[in-house]
Amino acid sequence: MVNLGPRSYPILVGAGALRSVGARLAALGVGRRTAVVSDPSVMALHGPTVVESLRASGFSVTEIRVPEGETAKTLAVAERCWDECLAAGLDRTSTLLAFGGGAVGDLAGFVAATYMRGIPFVQLPTTLLAQVDASIGGKVAIDHPRAKNLVGAFHQPRLVLADPAVLTTLPDPEFRSGLAEVVKHGIVLDAAYFADVEAHAPEILARDLPTLERIIAGSCRLKGRIVEADEREGGLRAALNYGHTVGHALEAATSFSKWLHGEAVSLGIVAAARIAERLGVADAQTRERQVRLLRQLGLPVTFAAPPPDAIVQAIARDKKARDGKVPFVLAPRIGESRLVFDIPADVVGSVLAEMQKGAG
Ligand SMILES: NC(=O)c1ccc[n+]([C@@H]2O[C@H](COP(=O)([O-])OP(=O)(O)OC[C@H]3O[C@@H](n4cnc5c(N)ncnc54)[C@H](O)[C@@H]3O)[C@@H](O)[C@H]2O)c1
Ligand SMILES: [Zn+2]
Repeated sequence: MVNLGPRSYPILVGAGALRSVGARLAALGVGRRTAVVSDPSVMALHGPTVVESLRASGFSVTEIRVPEGETAKTLAVAERCWDECLAAGLDRTSTLLAFGGGAVGDLAGFVAATYMRGIPFVQLPTTLLAQVDASIGGKVAIDHPRAKNLVGAFHQPRLVLADPAVLTTLPDPEFRSGLAEVVKHGIVLDAAYFADVEAHAPEILARDLPTLERIIAGSCRLKGRIVEADEREGGLRAALNYGHTVGHALEAATSFSKWLHGEAVSLGIVAAARIAERLGVADAQTRERQVRLLRQLGLPVTFAAPPPDAIVQAIARDKKARDGKVPFVLAPRIGESRLVFDIPADVVGSVLAEMQKGAG
């Protein structure tokens, strides 16, 4: 459960949980019209379960197909979604269900936030990243040609239903990319959770369902707790940005073409761990544990290009900068975080140079 007063909502994690979406939605007392927003791959693989469950509970279902991945997050696609909602007769009591990865969730959430000034919205995340991160917290957005997630809103879902069984069809790189956010949650929020991931890395990589269920539920609890404390990202939620300052800069400096998001975050975590060690904020062992786990999960911990200068310049353009200062989240020890503003660019540059020489 994420407790946000009148905007509170349950997060349900369970293998086979998708089959219960109709009954769960009926229990919320929403209108009987629904639209499921999804991409053709996800719909072909897992769509019938969702559609049948909704129809069995008496809902009418309109399927809205959107392009795969980031290409869904455009104004043109949102406009087509509004058109299709209107054509299907969706009113203020109707529900939009986002069925897919984080991109589908962001787009469908944006459509739900804006159609008739906001209609009920349900997250049915189908990637690991979306299950442990993107589907929780109500941040919804489309991209601007010049900046990702520039146009958006806060619109909390009424329900999040994460079914780990759908992850069995997820391509390996996408799965591992989601694990970077799992590791991040452990590092900055919960040492026991981190140790659980450490102890069960082989089962996680084998996508053992009971293990995934526990790990995903743990991450959802951690992220939910942060969202409760800081719904609109005033301060506390910044801890979730661990690994993302350098991660985003790596993505931006390579035009989002070289790494999946979680891979860039993995490198960002290594950079943050090295910076913390260099500044005396954390000891070497704290860095080593982070690097060892990322490596064990098949995530990158070293890289060859772009040059450190280009990355440092991209960091300076970070949209979280305040008065020209870029906040860095550091982990003094596993399970704790600290926001630091005045990290000298040469420290960042030299840490990145070390990573390029093969130091994890
Ligand atoms: N709103 C937030 O708080 C938040 C947080 C983090 C990320 N995001 C956003 O999430 C997006 C990235 O999401 P993502 O990593 O989930 O990737 P994605 O949504 O781009 O999906 C990646 C690919 O996986 C495929 N796919 C999805 N589920 C599948 C399944 N079960 N089996 C097989 N294939 C499947 C999709 O068809 C797609 O091609 C970005 O747009 C990012 O901005 C949002
Ligand atoms: Zn992330």
